[in-house]
Amino acid sequence: MVQAGKGTDAVISELVSRFEPGDIIVDGGNANFHDTIRREAEIKPTGIHFVGAGISGGEEGALNGPSIMPGGSVESYETLGPILASIAAVAEGEPCVTHIGTDGAGHFVKMVHNGIEYADMQLIAEAYDLIRRGTGKSPSEIADVFAEWNTGDLESYLIEITAEVLRQTDAATGQPLVDVILDEAGAKGTGAWTVQNALDLGVPVSGIAEAVFARSLSSKRAQREAAADLPGPDEAWTVAPEDTDAFIEDVRQALYASKIIAYSQGFDEIIAGAEQYGWNVHKGEVAKIWRAGCIIRARFLNRIAEAYADDPSLVALAVAPYFRDAIAGGQSAWRRVVATAAQAGIPTPAFSSSLAYYDGLRADRLPAALVQGQRDFFGAHTYRRVDRDGVFHTLWSGDRSEIETTPSSH
Ligand code: 6PG
Repeated sequence: MVQAGKGTDAVISELVSRFEPGDIIVDGGNANFHDTIRREAEIKPTGIHFVGAGISGGEEGALNGPSIMPGGSVESYETLGPILASIAAVAEGEPCVTHIGTDGAGHFVKMVHNGIEYADMQLIAEAYDLIRRGTGKSPSEIADVFAEWNTGDLESYLIEITAEVLRQTDAATGQPLVDVILDEAGAKGTGAWTVQNALDLGVPVSGIAEAVFARSLSSKRAQREAAADLPGPDEAWTVAPEDTDAFIEDVRQALYASKIIAYSQGFDEIIAGAEQYGWNVHKGEVAKIWRAGCIIRARFLNRIAEAYADDPSLVALAVAPYFRDAIAGGQSAWRRVVATAAQAGIPTPAFSSSLAYYDGLRADRLPAALVQGQRDFFGAHTYRRVDRDGVFHTLWSGDRSEIETTPSSH
């Protein structure tokens, strides 16, 4: 457990000089999986095993057992598996550890775990902001709302600790602690890696990306100060007292639907990464080992495990029957919340982008057709047609007739 980066390389070289073939080095830090792949390849010729293991759980996990995501060779896991199982958190009688895949697979999955963590936290923060600004409830009253939510579908560690943070009073000023904490969110990089790799893999993890960017925006103090007097909506927005309960229920449903999208996008990235790097990642097992010990532990991870057990080749979590029904039940509320936020001038980047992603996914026809037309116009980038095979180009600067650039099969 050393900080990711150069320190890890230094410790590894020291260990390699003392270890014997067959020994196992486990890197339990938040290493970049590309480094883990490199390190494993460098160490392999010595006969020493190198295992990059994602570990989640923070201080509590260190005391009571974390969720462990080990990569590395199958052979090393034969020795390591029982040891890790004995220290891992336990969910419904099962230890929260599984061999994720070879070389960097464990750190890759931990990286995506953190990306989902960013999205989950941002979504919860947006829900809080909407309730606070719409209803005027105090942080401790909103803590009660989150505590109530934690008894239902949204039950999770992050909802639980949100209630605790909102209930905390600052000893120095007597104000709610959340009101005296500077509103600039830090980041150590794993969220950004999740998005960088998603871009490389071509996976739209828009909810996670918005969560990362929301932290970046929060830290742009000079820009925020310069923009503070830019115009917002003409009228102030408040939720009428008689509509408060209905509004809070809408926000709860919007949060749940957006959360489903964040996890669906995260699992898409795991599937794409596994394909790209040749890992045989068992999605249902990943959901199961996230049920306890880790920061994103949540009741609904059981539903994700079930979805992949029912259909191991599920193309998107959002289309699994349970999640389809959950979104169907909550989508009207989701739309109301996003529309209200836009009209009220309250930023909800994660709520909004998740809904846009959902509508993009289910659209019969996307304006991507027009983008293809534009690309063909300015750069002869060609397009395909809906009615026949082949690759086509319109002679835009000539007589605008269409030519076939690659002959179709019929
Ligand atoms: C975990 C956490 C842990 C760490 C995050 C914090 O699973 O235990 O994810 O790894 O607390 O990396 O990340 P940021 O500092 O980037 O928010």
